Amino acid sequence: MTDTKKSVHGAWSSRFAFILAATGSAVGLGNIWKFPYITGENGGGAFVMVYLLCVLLIGIPIMIAETMLGRRSQRNPVETMVLLTEEAGADKNWHYLGWMGVIAGVLILSYYSVIAGWASAYILKAFTGSFFDADAAAIKGIFDDFVGSPMQLIFWHSLFMVATMQIVARGVNKGLEKSMQLLMPALFVLMILLVAYAMTTESYFQGLNFLFKPDFSKLSSDSVLTAMGQAFFTLSLGMGSIMVYGSYLPKGVPIAKTTFIIAGADTVVALMAGIAIFPIVFANNLHPGSGPGLIFQTLPIAFGAMTGGWLMGILFFVTLVIAALTSSVALIEPVVAWLVENKGFSRQKACVWSGLATWLLGLGTVFSFNVWSNVKFFDRNIFQLLDYVTANLMLPIGGFCIAVFAGWIMKRENTEQELNMPDAAGYQAWKILISYVAPTAVFFVFLHVIGVL
Ligand code: PHE
Repeated sequence: MTDTKKSVHGAWSSRFAFILAATGSAVGLGNIWKFPYITGENGGGAFVMVYLLCVLLIGIPIMIAETMLGRRSQRNPVETMVLLTEEAGADKNWHYLGWMGVIAGVLILSYYSVIAGWASAYILKAFTGSFFDADAAAIKGIFDDFVGSPMQLIFWHSLFMVATMQIVARGVNKGLEKSMQLLMPALFVLMILLVAYAMTTESYFQGLNFLFKPDFSKLSSDSVLTAMGQAFFTLSLGMGSIMVYGSYLPKGVPIAKTTFIIAGADTVVALMAGIAIFPIVFANNLHPGSGPGLIFQTLPIAFGAMTGGWLMGILFFVTLVIAALTSSVALIEPVVAWLVENKGFSRQKACVWSGLATWLLGLGTVFSFNVWSNVKFFDRNIFQLLDYVTANLMLPIGGFCIAVFAGWIMKRENTEQELNMPDAAGYQAWKILISYVAPTAVFFVFLHVIGVL
C-alpha cells in the first residue's frame, strides 16, 4: 500500500503494546459477566463446546484477517474498506462493511456501559461491607433493589461513560498501554483466587460437569447462534475494533502469532470465570439461567463468606471495571477515529459527540431493567434486543464479510505480503479457513436459525 496519504492517528509503541491493548479489548464483561450467564441460560457443556469450536475455527482466522485489513490500510475501518476495495478493484458496496462496524460499536457500548456501571456500583457495595455474611437471598435482594432504580443506574452509567471518553480523548497509547500492564496480571491472580474458593465448595465438581459435560439435547438452534455470537463478541470481532487496533500496528509485526496469544488469553479468562461461578451457583441452590444478574448474585456470596473476602470483593470489581474500560475504549475507537480522520473533528470534540450519543442510547438499556421492563420487541426488552441484534447478528455478519473480503476479494499476493508468515503451510491453513471454513460455518448457523436447515 502506498504511503502517500499520511495517517493522522497514533501507533503502538511495540508489539507488546498491541498485544496488551488487543487483549484489553478482548477481555472484558464478555468473559466474566456474559459468558457465565449465557452458558447458564443455554444449558452448559454443549454450548461451551460450540463456543470453543467457533473461537478456534471462525474466530481466530477472522481475527487474523481483521487485524490484517487494518494494518494494511493504516486507517479507520470506514477508510480501510474504501482503500482496500480500491486496491482490489472491488465493488463499492464493500464500503458499507466499515460503516456497519462503526454503528455496531456504538450500539454495543450503549449497553456495555450500563453493565460496567453495575460493576462500578458494586465496588462501593463491596467496600461498605454489604456482602458481609449475607446469604443468597439477601444478595439477590441487593441486586434487585439496585437494578430497580433508574436513577442509580443512570448515575453509574454516566460515570463510566465519562471515564471511557476521558481515556479515548487522551489517545490510544497513553491511557491504554499503561493501565493494561497492571490490569492483566491482577485479573489473572484474582481469577485464580476465585477458582480456589470455588474448589472449596462441595459443588465444585457439579460446576465443572455443568461447564464441560456436553448434553446436546439442551442445544437449540438459537443456542448455537448465541455461542457463535459470543465467539465474535468476546474476541471483539466483526465490528472494526480489532481493525482499528491493527491499523496502529507497526508493519513487520507477525499478525498470526500475536492473534493466538490474544485469543488464548481471552478464552482462559472466560473459562476461569465459569469455573469460579458455577460451583457457587450450585452450592447455594441458585439457578444457572438467572440471566444478566448472575455474577452479581453469586460472587458476592463468596466474598461475604470467605476470609479476606472484603478486600477480594473490592479488588475483583475494580479489576472488572478496568477490564470493561479497556474494552469500551475499543468499542468507541472506530467512530472516534472516523470523526477525526474523515470529518476533521478534534479528538476531544469527537469524544464528546460520540460519547453523548452513546450515553443517550444507553438510557434504553437502563430503563429496560425497571420502568420499561415490559416494553418488548419480538419478545425481548430493549437490552435483550440490542444484545441480540449486535452480538448475534451484526458481529457474525460483519465477520462473514471480513472473511469473504480477505479470502476472496483481496489479491493473494497482498494478503501473503501483509501476513508475512514464516511458513507456507501456516498461510495455506489460514487461507483455507478464511475462504471456506469460516464463511461456510457462519452461513450454516444462520440457515439453521431461520429454519432452512
Ligand atoms: N470483547 C469485549 C468483551 O468481551 C467486548 C467487545 C466487543 C469489545 C466488540 C470491543 C468490540 O467484553
